[in-house]
Amino acid sequence: MTDTNTQVLFKSAPEGMPTSDNFEIAHTPIPEPGDGAFLLENLFLSLDPYMRMLMGGGWTYSPNTLSPGDVMVGRVLGRVVKSRHPDYPVGTHVVGRLGWQTHVVSDGTDLDFVVEPKNNVPLSTYLGTCGSTGVTAWVGLKITGAPKPGETVVVSAAAGSVGSTVGQLAKDMGCRAVGIAGGPEKCRTVTDVFGFDACIDYKRDDLAAQLAEAAPNGVDVYFDNVGGEVLETVMGQCNRLARIPVCGVLARYNELGEPFGNKNMHLFFDKSLKMEGFVLTNHKDIWPKARAELEAMIADKRMVYRETIAEGMENAPDAFIGMLQGRNVGKQLVKLV
Ligand SMILES: NC(=O)c1ccc[n+]([C@@H]2O[C@H](COP(=O)([O-])OP(=O)(O)OC[C@H]3O[C@@H](n4cnc5c(N)ncnc54)[C@H](OP(=O)(O)O)[C@@H]3O)[C@@H](O)[C@H]2O)c1
Repeated sequence: MTDTNTQVLFKSAPEGMPTSDNFEIAHTPIPEPGDGAFLLENLFLSLDPYMRMLMGGGWTYSPNTLSPGDVMVGRVLGRVVKSRHPDYPVGTHVVGRLGWQTHVVSDGTDLDFVVEPKNNVPLSTYLGTCGSTGVTAWVGLKITGAPKPGETVVVSAAAGSVGSTVGQLAKDMGCRAVGIAGGPEKCRTVTDVFGFDACIDYKRDDLAAQLAEAAPNGVDVYFDNVGGEVLETVMGQCNRLARIPVCGVLARYNELGEPFGNKNMHLFFDKSLKMEGFVLTNHKDIWPKARAELEAMIADKRMVYRETIAEGMENAPDAFIGMLQGRNVGKQLVKLV
């Protein structure tokens, strides 16, 4: 263990896509845990699109915007290295939203969960498929989308962490899984690695024609990670009573100016569509059940996962920007040890 805590601080709000100038690297002494607390050495940092909203600048819907000098918000997987808390002995692994920093003191109240290691379930997956992104996919698909066997499920950002899990869960439920991703290489990964039935490229200008071919029976569930024009196109091919779980709006996070409204609202009553937003943190009661299912699927290889891993806290800003630009496949992580 080094004697320095390396942190990434929020410096300024980006105009559009963030740059390295919006972040600052800081080195501080490693904190000492007091009575009832423990020190974590963080092994992995999770990088997620929601962090862009917390940075503000241009359009953002987050009420919790960061202030200059704040440690960037983010989930880490940490190992207890010093403990003065009876429930968290040295060697315990935990996941919590404890910030972009290599070391942090906790009293346990700010954690998401304690990791109970399982055979064939790598620790890093507790920030991805067995952590927040996997559980997001599980909640949004199984509770909000609720597909029936034989139905067609379409998901955007399909090569990413949430999207790749959604498609595999849909296949496991007996559905046709169609992904939407950026570029031919990502589309090949979605079908050949993640096992979707088809994947279409939103960067081409014939999305509606591609979708008609990939989903010949229409769309029953559209798991929306991006919003914008892709949403409008998929809505046009939704079946009557289709469900649209709204998970995120990747097409908007770096946009400047006012968000635009949906141009085909009439489809909601024409086709009796149901669009419903959901937030992972409102479903904490379901996390253990969802995690247990996802762990079992990883352990017996019914669920494929991919990780894009940057090395070292200093490289976290660049990896974060890369994830927003689509350089990742699967979960974007930073390895810290
Ligand atoms: N509701 C919740 O509780 C909750 C929880 C977690 C995550 N989310 C949301 O879930 C979505 C996926 O998150 P994730 O962590 O799994 O990220 P991810 O999909 O692993 O990574 C982000 C991906 O977004 C795609 N992208 C970037 N700009 C885009 C654009 N303008 N249009 C379409 N795609 C774009 C890129 O893939 P391409 O190369 O294919 O463009 C990139 O790889 C996000 O919207 C996120 O905010 C919601």
